[in-house]
Formats: sequence, structure tokens, C-alpha cells
Amino acid sequence: MFLIISIFFLTFAKDSPDPNDAFLNQSIAVVLGGQQKHYYDNNIVVHSSTTNYENKYQDVPSNYFDDDDETSDFVEQLSPYDYNQEIDLNDLRVSRIYQNVNKKEIMPLIIPEGNMSNYAVKKYLGDGTFAFVQSGIRLTDGIGVVLKQIKSKYLWWARMEAHIIDQLNEEKNVSVVRLIDMYMNNTSPVLVFQELQNSKTLDYRIYSLYHDLNLEEIKRFYLQLFYGLYVSHKKGIMHLDIKPSNIIVSDDEIQIIDWGVSDFYYPLKEYRTRVGTRHYRAPEQLIHYKNYDYAVDVWALGSILASTIFKKYPFFKGKNNDDQLLQVVRVLGSKDFFMFCEKYNIKIGQELQRRLEGYERKALESYINEENRELVSPEVIDLLNKIFVYDHRMRISAEEIVQHEFFRR
Ligand SMILES: Nc1ncnc2c1ncn2[C@@H]1O[C@H](COP(=O)(O)OP(=O)(O)OP(=O)(O)O)[C@@H](O)[C@H]1O
Ligand SMILES: [Mg+2]
Repeated sequence: MFLIISIFFLTFAKDSPDPNDAFLNQSIAVVLGGQQKHYYDNNIVVHSSTTNYENKYQDVPSNYFDDDDETSDFVEQLSPYDYNQEIDLNDLRVSRIYQNVNKKEIMPLIIPEGNMSNYAVKKYLGDGTFAFVQSGIRLTDGIGVVLKQIKSKYLWWARMEAHIIDQLNEEKNVSVVRLIDMYMNNTSPVLVFQELQNSKTLDYRIYSLYHDLNLEEIKRFYLQLFYGLYVSHKKGIMHLDIKPSNIIVSDDEIQIIDWGVSDFYYPLKEYRTRVGTRHYRAPEQLIHYKNYDYAVDVWALGSILASTIFKKYPFFKGKNNDDQLLQVVRVLGSKDFFMFCEKYNIKIGQELQRRLEGYERKALESYINEENRELVSPEVIDLLNKIFVYDHRMRISAEEIVQHEFFRR
């Protein structure tokens, strides 16, 4: 137990001195995991590991797929999409809502040339497959910013992220991170966001050993999050990587960040099913149904709501793609699952089929325990039952969710 608590505090403890803090005009080497990855030169971060990348925009980033998935040799072919085709909007493969928002192929924003001179770096925040993220200040007015420098290899993704957030930011008071600037730092695109002051990622607030959100906060925050999804979906945009670490929360504000793998919805277009993060992947993605739609985001946010309410983190915890599906079937039952596969003519292998047979639907009430009892109500169970529906065309939409009784009481 002591070990678990220590690991938890080491992972989540805040305000510990950060050895990677860098200040204006310092030129320092940052050593991460024994490997020099970046160096600062006149306050410009240079990715030593990316300088030799060729600029192949449409490369699929490696963490687009599960690294730790047993089936990592999975290769998914997507059919080319004809933007001018005639489409029957009643086709079962087409979304039930916002089918035709995007009329023609969208060319993402061109990111202009520029440099760091308007900003000073404060702190190293993170370093992933796609990007190197730091907080800083804008020198003209001192406001807090987050600088996300994306590897040159993923320029196309950066342009899409900028384009999508730019469109979402047209609407005020929506729980979406605000993009305030962007520029090309040599071949690396940099997106500049307004910093959400004193924020943490949502994992920190809902992780069961820490959990500090009360029911009022849960309602307020999730209403804002579902409203954010509603606005995004209404604009024809799917986030595709909704997870607790892509949501930031301060005392009174919550924002969806990291629109790095987001995409525009087109009817009958095929999308990659290994996008996003396994624990939050919807059943249609887990069975590799490529004509999915906005409903995948609703599933992902619903899974996070369930983990918040039941203090079970994550709510569906699979070890790999097929095991993730099994965890879902163990709760939602086998019968509806096989009906869903039949309806959409989805074939699954015999061995997997055998593993998924024989489960009854489990009542969500069975997850109530002494730890979470005060957070569970008939309204939230009703909402989760409407989200945890295999058939994505029958799943409640974000627009319907914001009207749900759970948020009215
Ligand atoms: N506007 C913001 N305000 C405060 N912190 C932010 C903001 N935007 C991003 N962050 C912090 O930076 C981290 C990384 O941002 P983001 O998720 O956009 O980049 P990423 O390269 O996709 O990172 P990862 O690979 O960790 O998901 C976030 O988890 C969050 O802690
Ligand atoms: Mg992220």
C-alpha cells in the first residue's frame, strides 16, 4: 500500500522543482531518460532528434496505434474517399446527425513563418511522440501561454489541429482550449495556446486515490465538456482522442485540449480505428468498423464520466484491443453485441467470437459501493445507460446529453 501511495505522489505531486525549467536566453542541454533530446539556443528549442526527418506530411504517427497492443502488426487500409460522390443520407453507414456539414475537402491552415521572439519559456511541460510542450509568457502583455512545438514530420497534423481549433474558437464560452498564435520555427510548427492558469489534467482530479470532485463540480464540468463536444460535432468535427489527460481543469474552468488527431466528418468516409487511446475507444472502433462518426467521442467522454462517478479508473480497462472489447461486453452483454455486429455486417474472428459469448448485461448499479454512493443517482445511471449503447446510431448524442435530466437537478 505504502508503495502505491508513494508512486501516486511521485506521479501526481505538484509544485516539485522541475529540473527542466528553462529561462530566457539560457542555452542548456536537457537530459531526459539519459538521452539528450532537445537543447535551447537563444530560447528556441531545437529538436535534435527531428532535424533529419523528411517532410512526409501524411505519415501516420507511430502512437496513432497502441504500442503495447499484442496485435501491433495490425495494418489498416482505408479506401480513398470521393468528395464529389452522391450520398444517400439514410444509408446505415452514415451518421444519424450532422451528416453533411463538410461540403468539400478541407485544406488545413497554412502556418506562417515566425519565431519565438514574442515569448519567453517558463517551464517544460511534456514531451510526446508528436510534440514538445512548454509553458511561457507573451512578452507584450505577460499573459501565460503554452507553446506546443510539433515535430516537422507531423506538419500536416499541426495544420489540421490549428484549423480545427481555429474553427471551434469562433464560438465563445465553449470548453475548448484557445489558440492565440502559430508560427513555423524553421520546419517545426509551433501552436501557441492561452494557458489555463492553475490547471491540472483531469486524471489528476478523478484518479480514485485522489478524487476530490464533488457532485456539483462533476455536473458543472461534464456539462461544459459535453457542450464542447456538441459544438464541435455540430461543426462537423470529431475530437478522436478524448481522455482524461487531454482535458485540463482549474478551479472554475475546464477545457478540451489536444485536437492533434481530430478530423472532419464526411459521410461514408473511412477512418482509422486504432486512433486515440484504448480505454476510451468505442465498441465500433474496437471491432474495426471504419465508417464511425461523432458518437465515438460521446462514448469516450461517457467512459470518463463513469470512472468519475464510480471512482473506478479507467472504467473499462482492457489490456489490448480485443481485451478492451471483452471488458465492454462483460458489462453491456453478449446478445446486443452480436446483434450490433449483424446489423452493420461486421465480421469478427471465431476465437474472439467465442471469448465474447455468454455475458449478460450487467446493471450499472452493481458498481455502487461505499466509496462512490454519494455520487450515484438514478439520473446519472440513466444517462450512462444511454451512452453505453453498442449501436453508435442509437447512442445518445452530445446535443441530447446537454438536455439530460442529470444536468438539470
Ligand atoms: N492551454 C493549456 N493550459 C495549461 N496547460 C496546458 C494547455 N495546453 C496543454 N497543456 C499541458 O500540456 C500537456 C500536453 O499538451 P497536449 O496534450 O496538447 O500535447 P501532446 O503532445 O499531445 O501531449 P501528450 O502526448 O502528452 O498527449 C497537457 O497534458 C497539459 O498538461
Ligand atoms: Mg495530449
